[in-house]
Amino acid sequence: MSGRLFFILFYNQATHYIRIVLKYLYMIKAFVEGFKGAVTINKLNRNDFCWCGSQKKYKKCHLEMDEKLDRLEQEGIEVPYRDLIKTESQIEGIRKACRFSRSILDDLEGKIVPGLRTDTIDEWVHDFTISHGAYPASLNYRGYPRSVCTSINEVVCHGIPEARELQDGDIVNIDVTSILDGYYGDTSRMYLVGDPSPLARKLVEVARECLYLGIEQVKPFNRIGDIAYAIEQHANVHGFSVVRDYGGHGVGLQFHEEPFVHHYGERETGMVLMPNMVFTIEPMINAGSYKCRTLADGWTTLTADGSLSAQWEHTVRVTSDGVEILS
Ligand code: MF3
Ligand code: CO
Ligand code: CO
Repeated sequence: MSGRLFFILFYNQATHYIRIVLKYLYMIKAFVEGFKGAVTINKLNRNDFCWCGSQKKYKKCHLEMDEKLDRLEQEGIEVPYRDLIKTESQIEGIRKACRFSRSILDDLEGKIVPGLRTDTIDEWVHDFTISHGAYPASLNYRGYPRSVCTSINEVVCHGIPEARELQDGDIVNIDVTSILDGYYGDTSRMYLVGDPSPLARKLVEVARECLYLGIEQVKPFNRIGDIAYAIEQHANVHGFSVVRDYGGHGVGLQFHEEPFVHHYGERETGMVLMPNMVFTIEPMINAGSYKCRTLADGWTTLTADGSLSAQWEHTVRVTSDGVEILS
């Protein structure tokens, strides 16, 4: 064999093998990139720290949940953005703010009697809040002039405390939101003044049941519409209606955050719930029509037909398998 022929054969063999090696290198590269693409969401790698601040690796924390949410989003379902998911330390702060607001409502039990003026309630709430180093979120909120909302009888919500005295038979919602260490806690409940009518008592009771039936629907991968449906069904069974102009809301770092929480509607609609979302449920239930009107003061909202209205509110957190009532 001449030297030249040997070189040509060698050259052919060599390029043949080099091509095979290159082919496999490209396959490995494509596989690695494909794998990376499959496990990396929003540029976060499996082994990076999770975006939620847990200090755990992404693959041991929110990766699986994110993949699930991604699939839901691709199906056209509304999913929460990451900024709606509170960190553990934020939750602890919100929990303290909620407990503080709750303690104010507890304190008012037994004190809401005929002859009491609602601006006296406002004074108590204001002074108690300030003296404990907290701040009333309502005060000057978008121009709201007081530290608490007091909504009597046909007032649906945002009743402004005033010199008017409570009458025997009134039902009144007291709605307190406190800011403690920068965190917001929002809660309200109904108080019976003296001896309200059977209808008023029933409305108050059904509205409370609506709140708790709504809360029962809170768990990961349920939807806002599941809460809404449970509330509306219960109200309707008793011949009452659900206010549509107002709803619950995300809360914690701000007074009113996303999402808007409808209290009427269909199951399996609206935003998907995810652990550590924090929001309020606060159904307003009317004895007559759900329609409302707002006075010229820009706040006081009444039933359009003058019928009675009742409301209860809690701030809740979605847990890994259900719900925590923070307030
Ligand atoms: N606390 C109410 C709510 O549940 C909001 C009151 S806003 C105010 O969302 F300005 F009227 F206080
Ligand atoms: Co609220
Ligand atoms: Co409130």
